[in-house]
Amino acid sequence: MKIAHVVGARPQFVKFTPISWAINKFKHTISSPLESVLIHTGQHYDYAMSDIFFRELGIQEPDYHLGVGSGPHGMQTGLILQRVEEILSRLRPDVLVVYGDTNSTLGGALAAVKLHIPIAHVEAGLRSFNKRMPEEVNRILADHISTVLFCPTEAAVENLRREGFSGVINNGKYIIHTQELVPYHRQVSPPWVINAGDVMYTLILGILETAKERSTILKDYRLEEKKYYVATLHRAENTDDEDRMKTMVAFINQVAAGTPVIFPVHPRTRKALEPFRSSFAAPVKMIDPLGYFDMVWLLSNSALILTDSGGLQKEAYWLKVPCITLREETEWVETIKSGWNILYRNYTGAHRPSNADEHFYGDGKNAERIVDALNVIFSEEHR
Ligand code: UD1
Repeated sequence: MKIAHVVGARPQFVKFTPISWAINKFKHTISSPLESVLIHTGQHYDYAMSDIFFRELGIQEPDYHLGVGSGPHGMQTGLILQRVEEILSRLRPDVLVVYGDTNSTLGGALAAVKLHIPIAHVEAGLRSFNKRMPEEVNRILADHISTVLFCPTEAAVENLRREGFSGVINNGKYIIHTQELVPYHRQVSPPWVINAGDVMYTLILGILETAKERSTILKDYRLEEKKYYVATLHRAENTDDEDRMKTMVAFINQVAAGTPVIFPVHPRTRKALEPFRSSFAAPVKMIDPLGYFDMVWLLSNSALILTDSGGLQKEAYWLKVPCITLREETEWVETIKSGWNILYRNYTGAHRPSNADEHFYGDGKNAERIVDALNVIFSEEHR
């Protein structure tokens, strides 16, 4: 089986990591050859936004680097489409795997569908129901041209059912076995919707111990456990609107009220924050983006997380740190239901987290299940 993957932005390096580990493990258990080809679009290109993840996490290195870089949406997505198409038409993989909701996801998926290469979408079915977000448009379109939709939660499966997807495996419950899956057939295969759990859950379970051993972040910034907060902001809906930025800065100041806040700043946000630099109250410390070990260790020892990132909302939940989401809505409705996460508008000074052991995101072996499923559906031995 030949699997190609398109990644390009920071959250995709993170989602690809456990899949890359699972593929390596899986290779030793099958007799037929498994080729995995990684295409990096270059949407993120700074060392701290890209290379550090490959270096630290031991992910498969990119086989192709497309050097697309920054630019307006049309240009960025167009370049990705054009350059991924060139590679896929030569490579002809059995399946292209795309991750999440960035312009790299959409550009990669469009290239594949036009070449009649089946697409597997990891993190399918998420919806904010706000089409002004570029991410919402990217994921809706990617979902509707995919052949296999790997959903992280039951809520994501339900979103797809409402949009007319009927090939729901195991009635939308988490798949533990792959018996219900059948090999792909160009003429008759419907799009399949599979609840495979969240791959970032697999990752965090896999790296927490190493993060603890390796990270020096608490020492570097002289932080005491549970005596500081972490903030991040990078969504266009926040950074591209001056009034929103003003509201967010004021909100962070108000919640911090004297507690130190560590703020790893995304490059997009650095520019947007320039006019507000002096508006932050003294304990807000802006630092460069962090590698994954430092980020996870910083989060896990913090007392509160304020963020507009999807990944951080879930990480907060898994690490049992209360989170305030700096957005008007969230796709990760389970984190809100559990009480660990709250939208900033609804925050009145406290969280009411549930200590129940809910399994919203699968059993943790999620990346392995995805690789298993890809093998059943796309490998030659099953055709
Ligand atoms: C992208 C994704 C978003 C994801 C986020 C995670 C889209 C539409 N958005 O947003 O879904 O949550 O990544 O980080 O695909 N820049 C640098 N160095 C870099 C990368 C970006 O300086 O390594 C700057 C550039 O000025 C660029 C801006 O950041 O113009 C925005 O980058 P872009 O690739 O458009 O998307 P993100 O905002 O990072």
